[in-house]
Amino acid sequence: MDLADLLKRFRKPAPPQEPASGNSAAPRTLDEQLREEIRRSFDEASKDEEHFPSTIDPRIQHVQLLLKFFGPLADKSVLDVGCGKGRFARVLKEQNPDADIWGLDISEEMLRFVPAGIQTRAGSMTDLPFAASTFDCVYATESLEHAVEIDKAVAEMCRVLKPGGRLVIIDKNAEHWGRFKTPAWERWFRREELEGLLARHCSEVRSEFISYWEDVAPDGLFLAWLATKQATK
Ligand SMILES: C[S@@+](CC[C@H](N)C(=O)[O-])C[C@H]1O[C@@H](n2cnc3c(N)ncnc32)[C@H](O)[C@@H]1O
Repeated sequence: MDLADLLKRFRKPAPPQEPASGNSAAPRTLDEQLREEIRRSFDEASKDEEHFPSTIDPRIQHVQLLLKFFGPLADKSVLDVGCGKGRFARVLKEQNPDADIWGLDISEEMLRFVPAGIQTRAGSMTDLPFAASTFDCVYATESLEHAVEIDKAVAEMCRVLKPGGRLVIIDKNAEHWGRFKTPAWERWFRREELEGLLARHCSEVRSEFISYWEDVAPDGLFLAWLATKQATK
């Protein structure tokens, strides 16, 4: 074996290439690259109206819980985080025409379906493009499970909530993991896990099992976490 072969054998592999500096459009960290993949996947999923519908029956308990916990929304500002096609925001707006309702989603293709009257913003829930203490109510339905950086997303939702504001997260219970096929990045949550994350920012935090229909007992798949941000004295 000559010296060149020997060097080849012991030379460290080249480090992964960083994108050229100045190319701000290219994702840089692994999380950013994954988020880009997630965005593309939901852009594609927006064509699938059967599995990603743009409307929801307002009698479904997930909608009813939001309406009940938030109360009357006239002149209140509300943010739907990971709103998809805005099916929840649509009902909230129909029932509260004077509310200022916003939908944020990473997928611009999803946002195209959000009905008129709801303001939309493209962005990631891990870096919400809103000032602190902007909204009276914030909610996320089956979207936190795609956030990857879960603690960051929870902190962001609490940051944009006004003191005294109310937050709801509806998502799937980790104890039922495996019940459906899920993309590699998806996470489900243990009750105490999200309660703990929310308690870092909110004063009153609780969770409850929730079913689709009023007359059907919850089977444990869906949980709703409810929190109130401490009012300033
Ligand atoms: C299963 S869909 C739920 C949509 C809507 N909340 C609903 O219940 O109809 C998940 C949504 O989360 C969005 N999403 C995924 N990661 C996101 C992120 N980091 N920031 C904002 N939205 C995100 C997806 O684009 C998708 O629209």
